[in-house]
Amino acid sequence: MKALEGVRVLDMTHVQSGPTGTQLLAWFGADVIKVERPGSGDATRGQLRDIPEVDSLYFTMLNHNKRSITLNTKSQKGQEIFSELIESCDVLAENFAPGALDRMGFSWQRIQEINPRIIYASVKGFGPGPYQDCKVYENVAQCTGGEASTTGFDDGPPTITGAQIGDSGTGLNMALGIVTALFQREKTGRGQRVECAMQDGVLNLCRVKLRDQQRLSRGPLTEYPQYPNGEFGDATPRAGNASGGGQPGWVVKCRGWESDPNSYIYVIAQAASFEHLACAIGREDWLEDPEWNTPKARLPKLGQMFDEIEKWTTTLTKFEIMAILNPLDVPCGPVLSMKELADEPSLRATGTVVEVDHPARGKYLTVGNPIKLSESATTVTRSPLLGEHTDEILREILGLANDQIAAMRSEGAV
Ligand code: COA
Repeated sequence: MKALEGVRVLDMTHVQSGPTGTQLLAWFGADVIKVERPGSGDATRGQLRDIPEVDSLYFTMLNHNKRSITLNTKSQKGQEIFSELIESCDVLAENFAPGALDRMGFSWQRIQEINPRIIYASVKGFGPGPYQDCKVYENVAQCTGGEASTTGFDDGPPTITGAQIGDSGTGLNMALGIVTALFQREKTGRGQRVECAMQDGVLNLCRVKLRDQQRLSRGPLTEYPQYPNGEFGDATPRAGNASGGGQPGWVVKCRGWESDPNSYIYVIAQAASFEHLACAIGREDWLEDPEWNTPKARLPKLGQMFDEIEKWTTTLTKFEIMAILNPLDVPCGPVLSMKELADEPSLRATGTVVEVDHPARGKYLTVGNPIKLSESATTVTRSPLLGEHTDEILREILGLANDQIAAMRSEGAV
């Protein structure tokens, strides 16, 4: 049995943020019915295509384990069907531009009238406020949620991270909101509204930077590279590769860095294992030297310290360094490329990287469920083709006959 077996989700999500959330619900066993516009479907089906006329990896990697129904929710017949689906589902999820569902005629009030037990979840760029009507994509959320102003090097521009913290990050929040609301419904019998703003999601992940903003008013941020020689302004600055956790850390070069852009390792020089680190890099002298043998003495010269560490790391590969430092309890992490991650056997073994077969594209890799439940194992199945399950869903859930479905198709409702 799967954890969310018996839960039916009417999935009006598209692009990335919403689909990642409903994909998680599908991985936990919910029946996720993706509603798409007849003819075109989710725009990502056609974006960044690597094979002509075949659903893109962008789409397939965000919509596993779902069923697809095409439905024109702006046609009268389509709206009738949509109402009936709302009646028979536990969850309605969407991430259209603000107000889109209301413009279709489905306000929260109307949705509740149709089904008081339904949980109606939305992702938007912003919560109520000056930007509430804006359309938002990933990088807009990163800029407005505090990520960009705090990422990059002090002498460079604000920088976007490759991790999709606004989209996939907010999708996670939405999934948690839905499951929590389902849990509450067990006691109250009532559904509720779940609203997740991408700006809020990014800011939540930048929590430590708001911590630093408040620390800044009481003095310089001593673990930042700006200390002691640089200047601090009135806002949390960009800290390059300094560790966010208050433990001195930096990315240092490894053997082969001249030709391999990922021949780097992150090393944390925390007090607890500093002795081991100093010995490993051949700087036992630091242990007797008052200029180096306390965290306080090292703090103003962390750059110099990492330069010394790098003299040693450039003589070894990132994996050799990992093998030496890990047993010494020196926290470190090789910078792994996407190629290395795709090929990593342990990630394949845990189902974090999964090979999936698709009728049109053949085999491809995807990221599986990052959350492992001991009583609800995830099996990743391919994303649906556009409208693949339209007839099946209309027959099974709404009890329509084949001729009724054919009539709806000829009038463009499905
Ligand atoms: N049948 C009929 N019409 C449909 C439909 C269907 N099955 N599915 C969608 N539509 C309509 C919508 O109702 C909307 O019509 P409207 O403009 O008349 O209200 C239209 O298609 C387009 O939807 P919209 O959400 O405006 O798409 P967009 O491509 O212009 O904008 C986003 C895309 C992502 C910018 C926008 O949806 C958004 O800001 N979403 C919230 C934030 C978010 O999730 N962003 C992250 C995306 S990864």
